[in-house]
Amino acid sequence: MRKKIVAANWKMNLTLNEGAELVNEIFKGLPVLNEEKKVVIAPPYLHIVQTGEQLAGMIDVCLGAQNCHSETSGAYTGEVSAAMLKSAGVEYVILGHSERREYFKESDATVAKKVNQALVNEMQVIFCCGEPLEVRDAGTQNDYVESQVKAGLFHLSDEQLKNVVIAYEPIWAIGTGRVASTEQAQDMHAHIRGVIRAQYGDEAAGDMSILYGGSCKPTNAAELFSCADVDGGLIGGASLKAAEFLDIIEAMAAL
Ligand code: 13P
Repeated sequence: MRKKIVAANWKMNLTLNEGAELVNEIFKGLPVLNEEKKVVIAPPYLHIVQTGEQLAGMIDVCLGAQNCHSETSGAYTGEVSAAMLKSAGVEYVILGHSERREYFKESDATVAKKVNQALVNEMQVIFCCGEPLEVRDAGTQNDYVESQVKAGLFHLSDEQLKNVVIAYEPIWAIGTGRVASTEQAQDMHAHIRGVIRAQYGDEAAGDMSILYGGSCKPTNAAELFSCADVDGGLIGGASLKAAEFLDIIEAMAAL
């Protein structure tokens, strides 16, 4: 069953108190969601236990993480393993975010290993892909994103793929205020779904949730989410303000 999801990626923002306050504010305005609709909140690692305690018992709001390490355990100073996240109640792990690929030099191969770690530890993966501006300008974005999807996910079995959500985040739209048009988003999401269909078949493609990320705001969320192949959003800046994030959740709830 294809789920509609709105996921908050807080990135490296908010102190513990600010994070707790934001979650409380979100709770106050949260609409009732049915079974096929979920909200994910992915705070920084340091917040995870606290945020998890706040979310305890909620079915439609899930705890997320922004990353995990590619190895199981060991001498990796400063890192956090997938098993640790699982033990803290994390249900979704964002992997392959363009900021991790760019600033932390994560290769496709590293991202694929992280995907394995998250899945082995029985968490869902939010797998990020998306092209830089020069690729978009050259018109080769479909090939670029296809190769990211293949490198990050095609080693998975049919069963494993059921625990993956894809987030398409064009890099030129992240934090820039320059959102993809509905046509650009729909075209890429349909392409990604086609890539999944070619490898895993109709059912897997139909069940795959594909989220859009990149300057998604209350003003454009409803329009983006109305696209046939857009199943929600991965939200950065607008997820840091309760009123804005709630408006985006409302746009999903109304679908
Ligand atoms: P913005 O919503 O701030 O553009 O960030 C998108 C993003 O990178 C979410 O992961």
